[in-house]
Amino acid sequence: MGNEQGLLSQLQPIETDSLLRLIAMAMADERPDKIDVGVGVYRSSNGATPILSAVKKAEALLHERQETKSYLGMKGDTRYAELLKPIVFGDELAGDERIFSLQTPGGCGALTLAFKLVKAARPDARVLVGTPTWANHEPIIKGAGLKIVRYPYYLKDERRIDFDAMMEAMDAAEPGDVALLHGCCHNPTGADLDAGQWAKLRAKIADKGILAVVDIAYQGLGDGIDEDAAGLRGLVSACDEIIVAQSCDKNFGVYRDRVGCLFFKTADESQGKIAMDHVMQIAREMWSMPPDHGAAVVRTVLDDEKLRAEWLDELEIMRGRINDLRKRIAAKDPRLAYIAEQKGMFSMLPLTPAQVDGLREKYAIYMADSGRFNVVGMGDHDVDRFAAAVLEAMDG
Ligand SMILES: Cc1ncc(COP(=O)(O)O)c(C=O)c1O
Repeated sequence: MGNEQGLLSQLQPIETDSLLRLIAMAMADERPDKIDVGVGVYRSSNGATPILSAVKKAEALLHERQETKSYLGMKGDTRYAELLKPIVFGDELAGDERIFSLQTPGGCGALTLAFKLVKAARPDARVLVGTPTWANHEPIIKGAGLKIVRYPYYLKDERRIDFDAMMEAMDAAEPGDVALLHGCCHNPTGADLDAGQWAKLRAKIADKGILAVVDIAYQGLGDGIDEDAAGLRGLVSACDEIIVAQSCDKNFGVYRDRVGCLFFKTADESQGKIAMDHVMQIAREMWSMPPDHGAAVVRTVLDDEKLRAEWLDELEIMRGRINDLRKRIAAKDPRLAYIAEQKGMFSMLPLTPAQVDGLREKYAIYMADSGRFNVVGMGDHDVDRFAAAVLEAMDG
């Protein structure tokens, strides 16, 4: 190589994700009353992110029963996807042969496949993205080489969805454009469409020939399995084509095991088979086949009546804790009342980055610069202190 600089030494530093910085700062903070509501994982009242008992039992069964670690095939665990289908789509739609599925490494894997599939089908498709959205959405869309068109989804200071702006964005779309939608428990705002808004949106999407890509990563953590999927199911019924990127990482608490699934519906089965060949080709270039363990655990839980019931009970407990904390925070002040109406782990406080910094410095309260906080990041005993500090910051 002589005196020439190595290739990798030509790389320029990139800015670290501000949330990752926040996590490191929170970990280093030794103040005993620290409240870390930055990270997006479920925590029980003692601050732990526990392994669900149904998951533990399924892992024990797998340990006993698994006889080979040989390759699974490019679609991953097909029984897993088959069992997941009625959970996501409901019993009626689950029988629709035009809905295809493939196991993915988490919701991220499903989203990546979804947008690369769009790119393969229509290289100049534009993706309508409501802001703010989950921090990894735009990088995944850009990584697939697609253009993004943003519209305001949520008005943080007014604590409400800008539904008119959403509909205007759909109106301005061309047939063949793509709309990225959150199935439920919107991250980062917690603000979900109501039934009436879903109905208007689905009529518009079907009418304009827009392809919806629905990201559903928190099913069951809002109002319930069926309730949380109602908007998505309505869309699936109304549209000939749709893509769904699903994750079990939160509702089974298996974050690090990377458990997701890509579903897509095409106008007819033969077109779906062609799309599946493309999806498998794309997956092959990236990870060849998905990791087995997490999906095998979910499959084992869903395939066993008792374990399935136990999982549903545990999911209900998680959901109950989220909604209980929401109500308790909301009851502290009318300015926080909106938090009780929102869904899932996140809500967004109308705070400036400077106010967020102030909360961290003065009260050891850690949240994202945007004011997004994880409702279940705090312990039961933290609610009073959290609400008082936030209200003080709002006044300041
Ligand atoms: C909205 C949303 N979609 C998808 C994902 C991806 O989840 P996974 O960890 O399964 O890749 C997340 C994770 O935080 C998310 O918040």
